[in-house]
Amino acid sequence: MKKILVATEKPFAKVAVDGIRKIVEDAGHKLELLEKYTSEAELLAAVAEVDAMIVRSDIVNQNVVNAAKNLKIVVRAGAGFDNLDLKACSEKNIVAMNTPGQNSNAVAELAFGLMIYGIRKLFNGKSGTELRDKNIGIHAYGNVGYYVAQIAKGFGMKVYAFDPYVCSEKMKAEGIIPVETVEELYKTCEFISLHIPATEQTKKSINKKLLSLMPKGAVLVNTARKEVINEEELVETMSDRSDLIYLSDMETSNKAVFAEKFAGRYFFTPKKMGAQTSEANINAGMAAARQIVDFFATGNETFRVN
Ligand code: 3PG
Repeated sequence: MKKILVATEKPFAKVAVDGIRKIVEDAGHKLELLEKYTSEAELLAAVAEVDAMIVRSDIVNQNVVNAAKNLKIVVRAGAGFDNLDLKACSEKNIVAMNTPGQNSNAVAELAFGLMIYGIRKLFNGKSGTELRDKNIGIHAYGNVGYYVAQIAKGFGMKVYAFDPYVCSEKMKAEGIIPVETVEELYKTCEFISLHIPATEQTKKSINKKLLSLMPKGAVLVNTARKEVINEEELVETMSDRSDLIYLSDMETSNKAVFAEKFAGRYFFTPKKMGAQTSEANINAGMAAARQIVDFFATGNETFRVN
């Protein structure tokens, strides 16, 4: 019997936790739960004896790895694994996995919720604009990008995408117009939806140079990571051009500046909300539980990221 910890500062919906518990207990293991913790100390105490853990954006750093003496596998229930110290995991032979695709539709739907809220002037009663016939640029055409493209077509938008890792024939087959350079994407599209991961290459890569290329009525939607934005240059660009709207599924570090200078042209969710639906919690949480059970039963390492 293995001890499997679900450590979620931002908890899953109850129905997802019930599903995870069933998978874990049916396989003869024990589920432990640490939700809404407020300090690293609580997490360090909870991991001390466990064999496996499921996390969301929870930070699994060197301290956590050191404290988790029996840990064999950590699964990030979600797509982005920038919260896991992969080097620390590898050094202790801990397998790290994610659950790609499981929460993508939820994130894509939120992107449209943000877009409509933004272009209808935060529902302030004044005339806004519409999505139909506008160009949307999908910056990185992975799982979330795919769903954004599908929904955008339903809104009657023209869909462009830039992703050097995806073959343009696949995009064309899915009704997307592939572009060769990131500059072309920003030049062509009033709406840009970000889906790049936060890596050493992408951090701060969304800068003034790119944003200045966007046509009039530009809307930047960020359901990816705040780290990919060059936040100082975003402030500069929004100061230079009064048409630019920024909608983000996480707060900027420059909240006070936005409140003072850009009222009505931005919105930030108070907590990362993209994957916060029952469906996404069930899909990602239960996939994580299945991956762990399967890893202990058969050694299956599909979805390993380290
Ligand atoms: C992801 O990378 O899967 C999303 O950002 C969701 O993150 P969350 O599970 O912390 O909501």
